[in-house]
Parts: sequence; structure tokens; C-alpha cells
Amino acid sequence: MKIACIGGGPAGLYFAISMKLRDPAHEIEVFERNAPGVTFGWGVVFSDLTVDNITRNDPVSAETITREFAHWDDIDVHFKGETITSGGHGFIGISRKRMLQILHDRARELGAVLHFDAECDPADPRWREYDLIIAADGANSRFRDAHAESFGIDIDVRANKFVWLGTSKVFDAFTFAFEQTEHGWIWAHAYRFAPDCSTFIVECSEETWRGFGFDRMSQDESIAACEKLFAKYLDGHSLQSNATHLVGSAAWLNFRRIKCERWSAGNVILLGDAAHTAHFSIGSGTKLALEDAIKLAELLNRPGLSLEAAMDEYVAERDLEVLKLQNSARNSTEWFETLERYTHFEPLQFAYSLLTRSQRISHENLRLRDRDWLEGVERWFWKRATDGRSNKTAPPMFAPLKLREMEVANRITVSPMAMYSAVDGVPNDFHFVHYGERAIGGAGLLFTEMTCVSPEGRISPGCTGMWNADHVAAWKRIVEFVHANSKAKICLQLGHSGGKGSTRVGWEGNDVPLDGGNWPVMSAGDVRWSPANQVPAPMTRADMNRVRDQFVAAVRMGVEAGFDMVELHAAHGYLLSSFITPLQNNRSDEYGGSLENRMRYPLEVFAAMRAAWPGDRPMSVRISATDWAGDDGITPDEAVLIGEAFAREGADLIDVSAGQTWGGQQPVYGRMFQTPFSDRIRNEGKLATMAVGNIYEPDHANSILAAGRADLVALGRPHLVDPFWTLRAAAQLDYRDVAVPPQYLNGMAQLARNMKRDADAAAALRV
Ligand SMILES: Cc1cc2nc3c(=O)[nH]c(=O)nc-3n(C[C@H](O)[C@H](O)[C@H](O)COP(=O)(O)OP(=O)(O)OC[C@H]3O[C@@H](n4cnc5c(N)ncnc54)[C@H](O)[C@@H]3O)c2cc1C
Ligand SMILES: Cc1cc2nc3c(=O)[nH]c(=O)nc-3n(C[C@H](O)[C@H](O)[C@H](O)COP(=O)(O)O)c2cc1C
Repeated sequence: MKIACIGGGPAGLYFAISMKLRDPAHEIEVFERNAPGVTFGWGVVFSDLTVDNITRNDPVSAETITREFAHWDDIDVHFKGETITSGGHGFIGISRKRMLQILHDRARELGAVLHFDAECDPADPRWREYDLIIAADGANSRFRDAHAESFGIDIDVRANKFVWLGTSKVFDAFTFAFEQTEHGWIWAHAYRFAPDCSTFIVECSEETWRGFGFDRMSQDESIAACEKLFAKYLDGHSLQSNATHLVGSAAWLNFRRIKCERWSAGNVILLGDAAHTAHFSIGSGTKLALEDAIKLAELLNRPGLSLEAAMDEYVAERDLEVLKLQNSARNSTEWFETLERYTHFEPLQFAYSLLTRSQRISHENLRLRDRDWLEGVERWFWKRATDGRSNKTAPPMFAPLKLREMEVANRITVSPMAMYSAVDGVPNDFHFVHYGERAIGGAGLLFTEMTCVSPEGRISPGCTGMWNADHVAAWKRIVEFVHANSKAKICLQLGHSGGKGSTRVGWEGNDVPLDGGNWPVMSAGDVRWSPANQVPAPMTRADMNRVRDQFVAAVRMGVEAGFDMVELHAAHGYLLSSFITPLQNNRSDEYGGSLENRMRYPLEVFAAMRAAWPGDRPMSVRISATDWAGDDGITPDEAVLIGEAFAREGADLIDVSAGQTWGGQQPVYGRMFQTPFSDRIRNEGKLATMAVGNIYEPDHANSILAAGRADLVALGRPHLVDPFWTLRAAAQLDYRDVAVPPQYLNGMAQLARNMKRDADAAAALRV
């Protein structure tokens, strides 16, 4: 094949090498607009996995590259006058310029032709002479943009400003230096990539950047200002730029996250940054470029595979990898963009939050990297959780939490889950066993299912209630069992179904109206849940008074039944949520319109409940932190305001759920997918929060808690199949101080021994 590679960066050069290695008969020309040795950037970092991949692909160039690698292990985080050092991170880096030289030599040796100072124009007719055009021309690809509609390009220009500089100061550790200034925070990411040279990327918000006047400075002035700002880290060494083609403030860039729906159009194929970018803070752009090149060369040379089939497979295989990296990169990008959210943290927690920002590195991962450091974090966490009383080194999930006068023994909670098994609202033996079993299973706090304040406030005929003496008696029996047989506390979740009421039990269809015997429903407005559901009656003021009083009566019954805590369910599109979300609330009175108006009734109900609930016992509220509807619905920003408003009325904990507030939601699911909302409410609103949603490993819980993304972690579905989730986690983490029912002690000891033996065997295999 006769192939033109546009761009002599890592992608273009490595593709040329990979093709020639597989079939020397290919005619390959690489066109690079710059002269040899002229390139942007300084060092690039690699992972061990990338090194394995390039070694398998071409041992010759890999050998030269790895010989010249700089290695380092530690990460130093400089923050508020402290340096937090953690080890075991194992980075390798090389100068970008040197890596390109090695690739030039190798490409030439294999017979590829390299043209330098060769600016390529997509409209040039000479490209017709080639069988394939490889657009490896970087993030600003002209060849991609010339066929923009065919590729379905999606570019997200990120908020922060950064400049990629170099310095002769040698940083022995990967260094993050955060400086607080009168214009806001500004920070550097610095690492050594050669014996005498380090990369030094400076980043800040646009506001800080303008505050310093970087927008009006020449490149030299910018560099001088950065030297002054980071003088204490540079020890007299200067900073340098190699973006000589960029003038003035243009050396400062906004990162552009690029993704494309399709990676080929006719005989033009996108490779590397032209197809997709990954934020520099996770250092994986070059890895993606090299691995794209390997995969594409492999497929184009696979016998019997048409170009079309090769392209389908190329996209299928690489797309998943790119998606995973771009997801991690997005988390990392957002962490730096919302840095101010975390600057109230103490330095140790700040460093932990930084290290776990992309969610690729977890608590146990950090233990493998640097056990001592991680144990220091655990001790710190326990000390804070116990007001300095405990010096324990133990997983954060087992630390206690105090809300008003209630202390929960650990941070794991059983999320509220409707069982749809009550008759006339009365919990029965099923509920007794269900809650009792989960209490002895070790969770610190149990939530009841949404317990309804009136018969017509039920979701289904099977929902539990709290509106008469039978309910009080049945709940009291459960609460007393929980208190007598476990250390768990129990919280009564109270709610009213609103427009989502009068539906079947969950397993006969969610939100599907009853076959017969439907009761009239009401809501904030007259927006029905779906064409199959009833049109609700908008609540009158008299309805509001009645329902508010029902909530208050239910709270009083909760006191009688002995509950430790009460939660108001104001999420998931039920009655109170229907006021909060603009997608359900189409009222034109003082309860509709602005967020302040839409919050008025839910706050009124909450305040009335709080007044009826003992002052020494805590209350929480469950909210949907987003409607998953973009700006048309509740946004995560507004969720902070919603959390703050409830806190002002006396909420001690915001239970942060999301969605289920309208039929057209577009949720983005994944591991711990709702935790970012909890993080935001906790750290922007400075409120205690509970995270929930696809959290299923002890490692997830510990990472969330230690990083300060929530104060409690709720697990729903995992507890349906494993009431003993917390005890199992204790056995897995070899934590002995958890409350085990004495009847079960023997089994617990055996489980812990077996798990330890299995973990030791797995560790021995890894070594
Ligand atoms: C600040 C910063 C730090 C980074 N740090 C790291 C890191 O530590 N580790 C890492 O793996 N990645 C890092 N990256 C990302 C990495 O630089 C890119 O992902 C990688 O270079 C992509 O390789 P590429 O070959 O696709 O594109 P590029 O390296 O951008 O190469 C494209 C080439 O095409 C040439 N070209 C463009 N247009 C034309 C044209 N019309 N005609 C001829 N030639 C053309 C360009 O001159 C360039 O040489 C960083 C990026 C930035 C911005
Ligand atoms: C069967 C079932 C019933 C649920 N019922 C309720 C409920 O009554 N109240 C509530 O706030 N959330 C309810 N939820 C939502 C859960 O509390 C939790 O937020 C959700 O399942 C996500 O957490 P998970 O991924 O750990 O399951 C229910 C979830 C399930 C699976």
C-alpha cells in the first residue's frame, strides 16, 4: 500500500514503523510541518503497560526508549506550607524531543520516507496518489476538520488555562505545587524526564489567569511571572518555553477534549490526538497515540480483512479503551477545574483527594503503592471521626459518625428500598426479618423503605405506612429488635408518592398504574408521569396543609415507635420532588417558577417535621441532585442550593440521589455514578452528605470517605442479596472491631481466615 502519514508526532511515526515491521513492501511517507527537532512540549510519562505494548510491537525502538527513561516513585504534594509525600507510584518518562528522534531513526531504518518542513493541505490533489491518508496531525487536525461532517467531531474546550514549560531544575518526585495568591489558586505539575530537565506545566482558572494579567503579557513576561510565583520550588532555575511559534498569551492554552463518532472517511483514517485527546493530568495522550498505531497497523496487515472490516474492528477495539481513559481524564480535569472545592481540606486529605481524582486509583491501590502512607491517612481519618479519641489505623468505613446525639457505629448504610409487601400499610413478618437481618448484618444505619404518610400517599398497595396505631406497633417491634440485637441505628424514611402513586408493586412494572382500584393522585402541577399514568390534580393550599400535617403526625408516630432518625423523601419525582423539579412543577403561584418558590412547600414540610422531631435526634432529606435533563431540569449546581436550604431548616445530612424525576431522563450510569453530586454538595455547601448509587465494593466506600466525597455510604441493591455486606467487608479487610452477633462469631472468624488465606495466595501469585 502507498500511504501518506500526515504529522510526524508519536502517532504518525509509530504507525509508519508498525506498518513497515509487518510488511516492508508498504510505501510510507511521513509529512511533518516542523523541522526535525522542533516540537512543542517537554517530557511525556508512560505506564508499565504501555512499555509492554511497545516492546511487544517493536523491541528495537522500545529498547532505546526504555534505556533513556527517567524513573521516579514518589509524588510530592505541596499545599498550605506542607509537603505530603507518598511513594510506590512508579512513573517513567522521556523527553518528547528525544522520543521523536528515536522514532525518526527507526522509521528511516525500516524504509519509511520522512519529509520535514512539509505543511500539508488537505485540498492538495497529490493526496489522490495514495491508497491511504493517515491523519495523525494532532488535536488541531486540518485533515479531520476538512471532513468534519464525516467524522462527527465533538470538541469540549475546558475551563482552565495551562502552559507547558520546561526547566533545568530536577524534580526527584512527581511534584504538584499549589500556591494560593491574591488572584486565586495556581499550581504546577512538574516531573523530571531527563537527567537535567523537567516538565513544568502551570495551570489555573481563567479568572486567576486574568487576575494576574497573563492575557496581556508577552510570553517572556508570563514566564518571568511564573518563575516568581514558583521560585521556592525552582531553586534559582529558570523556566523555558518551546512554543516559539506561539506569541504572547497564546502560549497559554485551554485543553480541548476531542472525540469523534467515526475515525475514518473514505481512505482518510484518524490516529492519535486527531481522533481523541486525554487531559495531560493523566498523562495518557502519547500512550493512546502509540496504541492506536499498533492496532491499526495490525488490522491493516491481517490477511483477508477488507479495509472496511479492518476499520470496524479498529474502532470497536480502540473506542472502549479511549472511552475508559477519557472518563478517567474527565474526572481528573474536573478535579483541577473545581480545585477550590477541596482547598478547605487538610493537606493529607487534599493529597488523597488529588491522588484518587480520576477514580483509577483507589484506597486499596494506594495501600499497595505505599502502605505506611495510606495507614497515616487512615489514622488521620479515625482521629477526626472521633474528635481525637482514637488512634486507630483501620479502614474509614468502620469509623463512627455523630449526627446530633446519635452515633452510628460505622459509615455503611442500608439504602431505603421499597419492599411492596405490606397490607394496608402495616409492616409484617417479612419486614421484621428483612430489617432485622440487615441490622445484624453489620451496617451502621438502616433506612426503612419509603413509608407513606397516608393511604393515598402510597406508591403501591404494598407500601408501608405510618398513619395509624397499627403501623406504630408494627414498626416499634422492628425498631426494638434492631436496638436489642445490633448496634445499628434505624431511620424512618417518610414520603408521599404524589403523581407517581397508585401504581403496581415494583416487580409487576415500575410506575405502571393498577389494573383496577386506582385512587386519584395529586402533584405540584398537572404534569403526568407518562401517558399511561393519571393526570394529577395540582395541590390546593388546603391539600398542602393536610399533607404537611400528615407528615408531622407520622414524625410523632416515629418518635413513639422509637426511631433514631427521620428522613424526608424529596427525591425521585414523588410529591415533594414534584415541587422541586421544574419538569413537574408548572405552577404559576408562589410555589412555582423560581427555585426559591419551588422549594417553599418542601421546606415548609421539612421545618414542620423538624419541629415535631426531638432536637437531639438527626434528620436527613433525600434529594435528586440532577434531573438528568441538562439545563432544563435541576442541575448539580442547584442541588447545592437545595441542600443548603434544607440544612438551614435543620437537616443534618443530605442523602444525595439523582434522577427518576421525569420520564425522559438521560442518566450516565457507571461505578459510583452519583457520588460526584454528593462530593459537590458536601464540599461546596460544607454539608454532611450520604452518597448512593452503584457503590458495591468496600474499596469504593473507603475511597469515597477518605477523599471527603461523602460522610456516609449507602448501598441498596448489594444489600438485597447480601444482608451481611458489612460483616463480609470486615472479614475481607481483616477488621476485627465490628459488631458481630455472638451467635455468628464462629462463622465470622472462619470467613476472615479464608479470605486472608485467599488474599495471601493472590498476592503470592502477583509477586
Ligand atoms: C501540556 C501537555 C502535556 C502532556 N503531557 C503528556 C504526558 O506526560 N504523557 C503523554 O502521554 N501525553 C502527554 N500529552 C499529550 C501528548 O502530547 C499527545 O497526546 C500526543 O502528542 C499525541 O500524539 P499525536 O502524534 O497524535 O499528535 P502530536 O504529537 O500533536 O503530533 C502531530 C504532529 O502533526 C504535525 N502537523 C500538524 N498539522 C500538520 C500539517 N497540516 N502538515 C504537516 N504536519 C502537521 C505537528 O507539527 C505534530 O508534529 C501532553 C499534552 C499536553 C498539551
Ligand atoms: C427495590 C428497590 C426499592 C427502592 N425503594 C426506594 C425507596 O423506597 N426510597 C428511596 O429513597 N429509594 C429507593 N430505592 C433507591 C435506592 O435507595 C438506591 O438509591 C438505588 O437503588 C441506588 O443504589 P444501589 O446502586 O446501591 O442500589 C429503591 C431501590 C430499589 C432497588
